Amino acid sequence: MKYEINYEIFDMEKHGQLAEQAAVVQAADMAANPATVSMLPYTLETFQQCPLGAIASTTHGEFVGFNGVIYQYETGEWEQGGLYVAPQFRGHGVAWELKIVFIDAAKAAAAGKRLITFVGPTSESINKKFGFTETDSFPAEALEFCATCPKSKCLPVGKVCCSKVLEIQL
Ligand SMILES: CC(C)(COP(=O)(O)OP(=O)(O)OC[C@H]1O[C@@H](n2cnc3c(N)ncnc32)[C@H](O)[C@@H]1OP(=O)(O)O)[C@@H](O)C(=O)NCCC(=O)NCCS
Repeated sequence: MKYEINYEIFDMEKHGQLAEQAAVVQAADMAANPATVSMLPYTLETFQQCPLGAIASTTHGEFVGFNGVIYQYETGEWEQGGLYVAPQFRGHGVAWELKIVFIDAAKAAAAGKRLITFVGPTSESINKKFGFTETDSFPAEALEFCATCPKSKCLPVGKVCCSKVLEIQL
C-alpha cells in the first residue's frame, strides 16, 4: 500500500481529531452506501464512551480505521463493534491489524471479561478467526442499545443488519 499506517490504542485526548474525521467519513459512507455499512455508526459520543479501542491513521493524520468497545453493560460485559475501515484503505489488511491490536489490549486490560459482538456475515467471518464463538446469551439491555442505531432507519422494513451474536472470554 502507498500509505504508511500507524495502529494505536485509542485515546480521546490524543485522537480527538481522528475521531471527528471518523464520524464524518462514516456518515458520508453510510449515506452513499446504506446497505454495506452494517454496524452502529460512529458519533463523537461513540468515541467519548469507548473504554478501549484501536485506531489506525496515516502518518499525515488521516483517519483510516477503528475497532473497539462501543458499549459497556450494567453486567460489566463489553460489546465490541465499530470495525470500520475508510473505503480508500480497504483490502490491505487494516481490519486484521486493528483486530490484533484491539484484542491483545483487551486481553491485557480485562482478562476474564466477556466481550460480545453483534455481527453480519462480514464481521462474523473475521471475528471467528480471532476466537469468537456463537452464543444466544446477551444482556437484554443490548436490544435497547440496538434500537438507538441510526442504521436501522436506513434499512428496508423487516431487515436487520446484525444476524448473530458472538462472544469471547478475554
Ligand atoms: C469489513 C471491513 C472492515 C474490512 O476492512 P479491510 O481492511 O478491507 O479488511 P482486511 O483487508 O483486513 O481483511 C479482509 C480479509 O482478509 C483477511 N486477512 C487480512 N489480513 C490477514 C492476515 N495477515 N492473515 C490472515 N487473514 C488476513 C481477513 O480476515 C478478511 O477475511 P474475510 O473476508 O474472510 O473476513 C471494511 O470493508 C469496512 O469497513 N466495511 C464497512 C463496514 C463493515 O461492514 N464493517 C464490518 C461489520 S461491523
